[in-house]
Amino acid sequence: MRNPKRKTVSDIRAAKGRTEPLVCLTAYTAPMAALLDTHCDLLLVGDSLGMALYGMDNTLEVTLDIMINHGRAVVRASKAACVVVDMPFGSYEESPEQAFRNATRVMRETNASAVKLEGGKNMAATIEYLTGRNIPVMAHIGLQPQSVLKEGGYRVKGKTAESEAIVLEDARAVAQAGAFAVVVEGTVADVADMITKAVAIPTIGIGASSNCDGQILVTEDMLGLLTGHTPKFVKKYADLAVIIDKAIGAYAADVRTRKFPSAEYLYSRPKLVDGDKKAS
Ligand code: KIV
Repeated sequence: MRNPKRKTVSDIRAAKGRTEPLVCLTAYTAPMAALLDTHCDLLLVGDSLGMALYGMDNTLEVTLDIMINHGRAVVRASKAACVVVDMPFGSYEESPEQAFRNATRVMRETNASAVKLEGGKNMAATIEYLTGRNIPVMAHIGLQPQSVLKEGGYRVKGKTAESEAIVLEDARAVAQAGAFAVVVEGTVADVADMITKAVAIPTIGIGASSNCDGQILVTEDMLGLLTGHTPKFVKKYADLAVIIDKAIGAYAADVRTRKFPSAEYLYSRPKLVDGDKKAS
């Protein structure tokens, strides 16, 4: 059963142009979703979980079943935020019918509020097909991580006049097709500003502009949980990798010196009372 207090896609859509931007983060697991829920307007079960949780090189190996399992966990553990689940690579590009079939599975099996898919003008027909059949869609334009092999890397968009025109055209196309919001990733700031002004749906920026209608980050990135390369647009609000390393080091030392478990962590027999003694 959907929680009546949960933010809906209409609530997100209505935040267009508000002074206070939408707060969005990725969530992949139940414990993290429960922690983020009260702070966030929207939780994205992003296919970035391929790297953040599964140690994959990119998002291309992520399957629909993986997304559904994590989507279900995040919906179960959250009450307030609007939950959106990413459509993974290969699950929607073939045709609007394929997208509908797989998005239906996501919606039915996770109880999420919407799906997200990457693409602009090239995916407009698919977005229209899904939204016309009651599946709310969040679009994702600018840098699209699922295109990493085609592009030969993660390339920032909008640096040239030609690239600027493409991103703007993509933004207009997905808004026109019925997306309720659009993630704008890895796009130069003034182009992201133009997009925000050009479309009537909220823009959710990641490496885009502070003038977007909302912001999103990969939670594991902003908490400093991931070792390795941190993208330029990530502000680390904590360094949890350091805290975890310290805690695990302390545990390992306690185990090796038999300091853990000490008496307070052990079970003992119940104390015998007088009557028990006589009876035995
Ligand atoms: O997969 C993901 O986490 C995303 C965000 C980076 C927007 O698409």
